[in-house]
Amino acid sequence: MHQDIHHVLLTAEQIDARVKALGQIIARDYRDVGDLVLIGVLKGCTVFMVDLARAIDIPLSIDFIATSSYGSGTHSSGVVRLLKDLDMDIAGRHVLIVEDIIDSGLTLSYLHAQFLKREPASMRICTLLNKPSRRDPTVTLTVDYLGFDIPNEFVVGYGLDYAEHYRNLPYIGVLKPEIYTH
Ligand code: IMP
Ligand code: MG
Repeated sequence: MHQDIHHVLLTAEQIDARVKALGQIIARDYRDVGDLVLIGVLKGCTVFMVDLARAIDIPLSIDFIATSSYGSGTHSSGVVRLLKDLDMDIAGRHVLIVEDIIDSGLTLSYLHAQFLKREPASMRICTLLNKPSRRDPTVTLTVDYLGFDIPNEFVVGYGLDYAEHYRNLPYIGVLKPEIYTH
C-alpha cells in the first residue's frame, strides 16, 4: 500500500466486479435504445471510463468535458468553470454522464443544466462513487447508475487525485489527513 494512504476503502477486485456489473446493466438498458454517448468529466473519470466502456457490450461513442477542479484543496468552491467543451453534438442522442465521484453535486448540476439546453434524447448520470452526506441542499440530482456510496472521507486512486497525485493507484484509498492539512 502507498505510504500516504491511511486505509484501502475499495480494493481493485471490488471495483472491477462492480464496474463489470454496471456495464451489464447499462448495456441492457440501452440495447434497444441505441446511439449511446458516454460523456466523461475529466480527469477523474478516466480510469473508470475506460473500464466501464469495455464492460458495455453495445455500440457507443465517447466524449470528454473538463471543468475547473478543486485545485490542491479538498473542498469544492461551488464555482464551476468549463475548461473543455464536448467535441460532439449531443442533440437527439442518448447521453450518459460518467463521473468519478459526486460530492456536493454542484459540478454535475451545472453540467446537467448546460447539456439539457442542447436537447439530447435522454440524459442519465453514472458515478463510481457518491458521498450522499455531502450533497449541497440546492442540488436535486438523481444518480441513475452508482458504483458505491462512501462515507465523508477524502479518497484517492482509480483516477481520483489529490493535487494531481495518486490517480494511478489501482484501489481507492483514504488519504492520510496529514497529507492535506500540513
Ligand atoms: P462536487 O461538485 O462537489 O460534486 O465535486 C465533484 C468533483 O470533486 C469530483 O469530480 C472530484 O473531481 C472532486 N472530488 C470530490 N470529492 C473527492 C474526493 O474524495 N477525492 C478526490 N476528488 C474528489
Ligand atoms: Mg471529477
